[in-house]
Amino acid sequence: MTTRIVAKVGGSLIRDGIPQDLVRDLAEASRANEVVLVHGGGDAVTSMARKLGKEQRFITSPDGFRSRYTDKETSEIYQMVMTGVLSKRLVLALSGEGAKAVSVSGTDAGTLRARRKARLVVIDDRGRKVAVDGGYTGKVSSVDPVLLESLLRGKFVPVVSPVAEGDGHEPLNIDGDRAAASLASALGADLVVFFTDVDGLTLNGSLVTDMTAEEARRRLKEVGFGMQKKVMSAVEAVESGVGEAVICSGAGTGPLERAMKHDTCTVVRAR
Ligand SMILES: Nc1ncnc2c1ncn2[C@@H]1O[C@H](COP(=O)(O)OP(=O)(O)OP(=O)(O)O)[C@@H](O)[C@H]1O
Ligand SMILES: [Mg+2]
Repeated sequence: MTTRIVAKVGGSLIRDGIPQDLVRDLAEASRANEVVLVHGGGDAVTSMARKLGKEQRFITSPDGFRSRYTDKETSEIYQMVMTGVLSKRLVLALSGEGAKAVSVSGTDAGTLRARRKARLVVIDDRGRKVAVDGGYTGKVSSVDPVLLESLLRGKFVPVVSPVAEGDGHEPLNIDGDRAAASLASALGADLVVFFTDVDGLTLNGSLVTDMTAEEARRRLKEVGFGMQKKVMSAVEAVESGVGEAVICSGAGTGPLERAMKHDTCTVVRAR
């Protein structure tokens, strides 16, 4: 039986080259199974913006989270790096392992649609709450899996960059973890894996190996920012019918095999 796998490759893993074992595992898995990749890469966007002399503005939410503010120029740099550089880097790495990969922006064939945040509440430098224009950032509102399905039927490995089409047909940047969860759910995936630079979720100093969605939701406040998005996405995926969600390291030997065997990782289950 073929397993349908959606794997999100964290930006930290593709910054300068991609772990060879991870690429080999994914390419190998794609021969007998169906594999869809999604990736991140916020740091690479920041460093390219800097090289281009585009000053990046960061905003702080009332809960204390800092994130990039995406104006029009930043949105273009975001697409350039995500779709133009990082997706293509993954495609070539997979090609080196014999897989036929195709890079797809979430905006291709309406694969990912998102709703733009009209207004964002931020904390200004004097600590006051103010509303600013939402910029080119969105939250996934729907997925049309038809393009990905046809690529999978053709034995291709789709590599999806985290860009979505807004209501006004504008490109919006979206979170890679949330994109992976939405795609996994729309594709009815058996497994979604979030490959990152740590083994999984750590609470009170030790790795959480197994967690129900309900427990994960309850303990979300104890989790730091990057991992919190992953845990939330894992919860969303299993609650919307994905068989299993695993957060694990993309470094080291046999990362996909480790994830599938639940070795040194965090597994989130529906119940
Ligand atoms: N409780 C926690 N357990 C494990 N990691 C945590 C925790 N809280 C915060 N983190 C951080 O979350 C990070 C992973 O998320 P991060 O967003 O940095 O990576 P990524 O999602 O792989 O990359 P990208 O966002 O570029 O795709 C870890 O490197 C770790 O520092
Ligand atoms: Mg992240």
